[in-house]
Amino acid sequence: EKYNYGVIGLGVMGRNLLYNIADNGFSVAGFDLDAEKARELEQGATQNTVVKGTASLEDFVSALETPRKIILMVPAGKPVDAVLENITPLLNKGDIVVDAGNSYFKDTERRIADLASKGLHFMGMGVSGGEKGARTGPSIMPGGDLEAFNLLKPMLESIAAKVDGEACTAYMGKSSAGNYVKMVHNGIEYAIMQLISEAYDLLRKGANLNNDQLYEVFKEWNNGEMNSFLIEITRDIFQQKDSLTNGYLVDQILDKAGAKGTGKWTSEQAMEIGVSIPTIDIAVTSRILSAYKDERMKASQLYSEKQITAPENIESFIKEIGDALYLATLISYAQGLSLLVKASEEYAFDIPLKDVVKIWRGGCIIRSVLLEKFYSAYTQNPDLSNILLDKDISEIVKSKLKSLRSTAAYAVHNGISSLGIQTTLGYFDAYTTESLPVNLIQAQRDYFGAHTYQRIDREGVFHTSWKSTNN
Ligand code: 6PG
Repeated sequence: EKYNYGVIGLGVMGRNLLYNIADNGFSVAGFDLDAEKARELEQGATQNTVVKGTASLEDFVSALETPRKIILMVPAGKPVDAVLENITPLLNKGDIVVDAGNSYFKDTERRIADLASKGLHFMGMGVSGGEKGARTGPSIMPGGDLEAFNLLKPMLESIAAKVDGEACTAYMGKSSAGNYVKMVHNGIEYAIMQLISEAYDLLRKGANLNNDQLYEVFKEWNNGEMNSFLIEITRDIFQQKDSLTNGYLVDQILDKAGAKGTGKWTSEQAMEIGVSIPTIDIAVTSRILSAYKDERMKASQLYSEKQITAPENIESFIKEIGDALYLATLISYAQGLSLLVKASEEYAFDIPLKDVVKIWRGGCIIRSVLLEKFYSAYTQNPDLSNILLDKDISEIVKSKLKSLRSTAAYAVHNGISSLGIQTTLGYFDAYTTESLPVNLIQAQRDYFGAHTYQRIDREGVFHTSWKSTNN
């Protein structure tokens, strides 16, 4: 009896994804270089599901029905190439290899070509939802090879999260679009996490809220229009006690953020293809800055004159921060989605934006009820270049804008760092300005470098011999 699917890489994500596939009635074989992991696999499986752990690649490959459908869940980069090098000689024409890790999209393009030359299908597929999502229903972002996608589709639809009975998976576009969409998902994830952390900082430093009060605020936010996975887990974090100190765990965690690179890739990409996504950029660089803890400590002593004035009305302060966070989150999605629009043209991905927001509504880290509103916007107008241009969305924006401004102003006046909030507002103000002062920048460029400029009153490219007024 042959197995329907194979999973390579039995770490937390791989194992959970494998069990999820098995829970949905498919038989699955797993392989890991670590024989221990392969051996333990069967014990963790749900009763009556068909799961087999293998510790040799040959056994693994020959256990699979053809065309083989193999899912890789190994760390991005060299490990993926290492697996491919070992496994491709064992495969037959028509077999399918799906990379479900956070691989860089250009690596995926290279691998697609490489495997195609051997008659093999290779797909990049984003999977979001952490360990729990992988097991119970992630959001799945496949792209590339349509023939392979169609073969996998029924399985993907059954293991994915569901919203209103619809699976949170869809074809994300050609070539490496699946990885690209997941990369941008992560960039947006960075931005929203940054914004939430700033709201937290304003609430604890400005309004002096303790963790119990913060829990209540986030609980209330999560019960309304701000309902989302990241708000929900933040709520819970404020209730987690620390077994070592009996205080709250969050207060014992060192303020240095880690990052595996997908956020940075998103920013690099945006720079590369000319899209402005400053909230994501600032979220990436904030994590970098956070690592300079020693310097921050010295600088904070050197410039220690910050004085925080408590807001006059705590309740309306909290409400304003909530609205500011909601709007800044919306604008972060807008930036990420605008990157997808440009990338779709640039790389001929043909990314269906409507399906992207549809499948982000459930299972993934950035799922939120706000995405329902985006889904209706794209349903009406699938070609929106920026979600901020949608009429209904603009009404939401207008209703929250004052709060974003007053929250930003409060942070500025009180010296509470709020890179994400300030940047988001700055982006919004620039994006919604008809005449930017860059006419002056163009004049300067032409002045010192003869870089030329365009005019507002006639066609063409112009250069002027600018006159110095020295003497
Ligand atoms: C997900 C997450 C997941 C992840 C990344 C980013 O969608 O399930 O985005 O892929 O947490 O590894 O993590 P870093 O913060 O370490 O870059």
